Amino acid sequence: MAVVLRPFARSDHAALLSWVSGAEELYRFSGGSLTWPMDDDRLDGLRALPGVSEWTAVTDDGETFGHLATVWIDRDHARLARVIVAPERRGRGLSRPMVDAAVRMLRETGCREVVLHVVPGNDPALRSYRSAGFTEVAPDPGRPQFVRMSLRVATAT
Ligand SMILES: CC(C)(COP(=O)(O)OP(=O)(O)OC[C@H]1O[C@@H](n2cnc3c(N)ncnc32)[C@H](O)[C@@H]1OP(=O)(O)O)[C@@H](O)C(=O)NCCC(=O)NCCS
Repeated sequence: MAVVLRPFARSDHAALLSWVSGAEELYRFSGGSLTWPMDDDRLDGLRALPGVSEWTAVTDDGETFGHLATVWIDRDHARLARVIVAPERRGRGLSRPMVDAAVRMLRETGCREVVLHVVPGNDPALRSYRSAGFTEVAPDPGRPQFVRMSLRVATAT
């Protein structure tokens, strides 16, 4: 399945808002970066954050099915955040090509290591990231409540 990531637009808000079922899922999705209820203003606010890009994932037949964010930490390191697949499309392996597309994009723009945080017990997310090559590493001391995963995408010179 080929997946295209296009910049998250205001016209994508309604779909994303409809994919998150409640406060608990919002926490799994955003790790606390968004508070319930989500609304247009809060989503607009994400675009204003430095180093942050939000993306809408579209299948090669043009169906919008997912969302994720890429966050640059420094020149070599980036983080994936706010990963979600539309509820009716979950369990079909779509998160993997979406994550792969984001990792490819980051690698092509100089990233050497991609990290991400997962709420403990979020098995679909953990399994999906493991299948994309991420491995668990020591938690970030600043965010010890999350499972931290890492994927090296280039060999250090
Ligand atoms: C996490 C998420 C993006 C995964 O997307 P997806 O396209 O459904 O992922 P997949 O279809 O590849 O499924 C991932 C794995 O979880 C498994 N899985 C699916 N639903 C599951 C469930 N309810 N419980 C346990 N495992 C489950 C799948 O079998 C698959 O494992 P496998 O590859 O070993 O068979 C999706 O579940 C989601 O949007 N969840 C809500 C938001 C969220 O939690 N985001 C994570 C932010 S870190």
